[in-house]
Amino acid sequence: MSPGGQPAAPATGSAADFLPPRPTLPRLRAAAAHCRGCPLWLHATQTVFGEGPGAADVMFVGEQPGDQEDRAGQPFVGPAGRLLDAGLEEAGIDRRRVYVTNAVKHFKFVRREPTQRRLHKKPTPAEVRACLPWLEQEIALVKPRIIVALGATAAQALLGNAFRVTQRRGQVVESSWGSVVATVHPSSVLRAPADARAKARREFFRDLARVATRLTPTSARAPSTN
Ligand code: URA
Ligand code: SF4
Repeated sequence: MSPGGQPAAPATGSAADFLPPRPTLPRLRAAAAHCRGCPLWLHATQTVFGEGPGAADVMFVGEQPGDQEDRAGQPFVGPAGRLLDAGLEEAGIDRRRVYVTNAVKHFKFVRREPTQRRLHKKPTPAEVRACLPWLEQEIALVKPRIIVALGATAAQALLGNAFRVTQRRGQVVESSWGSVVATVHPSSVLRAPADARAKARREFFRDLARVATRLTPTSARAPSTN
């Protein structure tokens, strides 16, 4: 309690207040576990920090962890992650050489009555802004050759709120972060109506195949022909 008897503020307004001195990926991960930069830490199970090799060639940035990621503490381990894995496999990108993270590191949800199932809720621009210091540090340390923004939240976090994925998907955009390619979020492919899903999946995979052409042969091998 503060001297006025009010509960302590639940959030400081920015993850920048929690950055460790002389950051490394393990130090960032440890510090992010205690982040209270925005109110999302209150109801989520845990911080879901990025994962992958510290010298990855490519970094995938999603929106925020989903229900399964929140429980597991790892990004892209649920249905969207499985579709991403399938797309990487088809593009010939070795997932072990990929760093995977999210624009926002805590799961935001609403509980649906009567099952209490936790439904994804889109983070606000203020929450995305508050969390950005983690992503900024991840990019600065990993120094990927190319960053792939999955969906509008990640794309706009990196390229500004005027950026439209629908108009510029698959194109390499040179930015202050380096080379960024935006595509749709794999969840949007999974949510597409049945008659549009195959096409959405094909287009998503085509964008990933384009990313593969920008990578070195060690991380992008030719898809096998058998
Ligand atoms: N969707 C995301 O954007 N990120 C995850 O980690 C999982 C689902
Ligand atoms: Fe911190 Fe990001 Fe979690 Fe908000 S969502 S508490 S800024 S780690």
